[in-house]
Amino acid sequence: MSRVAYVNGRYVPHRDAAVHVEDRGYQFADGVYEVVCVQHGEVIDEDPHLDRLERSLKELRIASPMGRRAYKHITRELLRRNRVTDGIVYTQITRGVARRDHPFPAAGTPPSIVMTSRRIKPQDPKLFDHGIAVVSMPDIRWQRCDIKSVSLLPNVLGKQQAREAGAYEAWFVDRDGNVTEGASTNAWIVTQDGELVTRQLGNAILGGITRRSLLQLAADAQIKVVERAFSLDEARRAREAFLTSTTSFVTPITKLDGKPVGSGKPGPVADRLRELYYGYMDTPEPV
Ligand code: PDD
Repeated sequence: MSRVAYVNGRYVPHRDAAVHVEDRGYQFADGVYEVVCVQHGEVIDEDPHLDRLERSLKELRIASPMGRRAYKHITRELLRRNRVTDGIVYTQITRGVARRDHPFPAAGTPPSIVMTSRRIKPQDPKLFDHGIAVVSMPDIRWQRCDIKSVSLLPNVLGKQQAREAGAYEAWFVDRDGNVTEGASTNAWIVTQDGELVTRQLGNAILGGITRRSLLQLAADAQIKVVERAFSLDEARRAREAFLTSTTSFVTPITKLDGKPVGSGKPGPVADRLRELYYGYMDTPEPV
């Protein structure tokens, strides 16, 4: 049985799944997306992801093409049809198809929706054992990074620059010299004083769902987290650094701009938080 995608109300063979050339997502990146992780058939943090999807749509004044029950139904149908128990579901919604013109199309253009699902291998355990390298670069993104928009050109360029430098992730640095987040992950450090820090929510970062769940898990475990800006300099002097996302969970960073972070080995705080997060994924409950 071949892979199946959901496109505007129909399940179609993945190889034939397509949107129109005048889809505004294609022409203007006028759309939003979500990525959810599926583990042992469970969709992790599904409602928080759908909350964020609805928020992104609202901020861009794109109508939601369906209600929450329908999203959940299609998600399960895609998992079933593609025989995915461990993987991801990708959802993308755009403002729809219209003759190319920058302003929103006049009334009557329905949004486009595409959903796909695929198996992915869990994060390579080697990355947890050895940690990963990150390189910093100026944050050249727009001022609404809180919206999960498909407009990801700076993220694409950043990730590519990181890969070419032999690193796994790019850390974006704002004009004040503070780290905002990674190209597709949230950024965390443990300072020399033992303070666990991640950037506060706002327009400069995406409100990561993994970040959100981890904050709750840390609070439950009486681990104090300070949500504030931290500078690249502070990160370079940190005891530990790590990143979080739906697909990378909690991954330690052992090299920043070619220099070791802390001892140059994954630190105990990141390891502990990853254990907590794994425990949470095994018994997902709304937080
Ligand atoms: N990336 N920051 C950015 C810019 C991201 O793109 C992501 C997610 C995150 C982490 O968010 P979450 O914990 O909700 O995954 C932070 C997804 C996985 C992607 O683009 O594939």
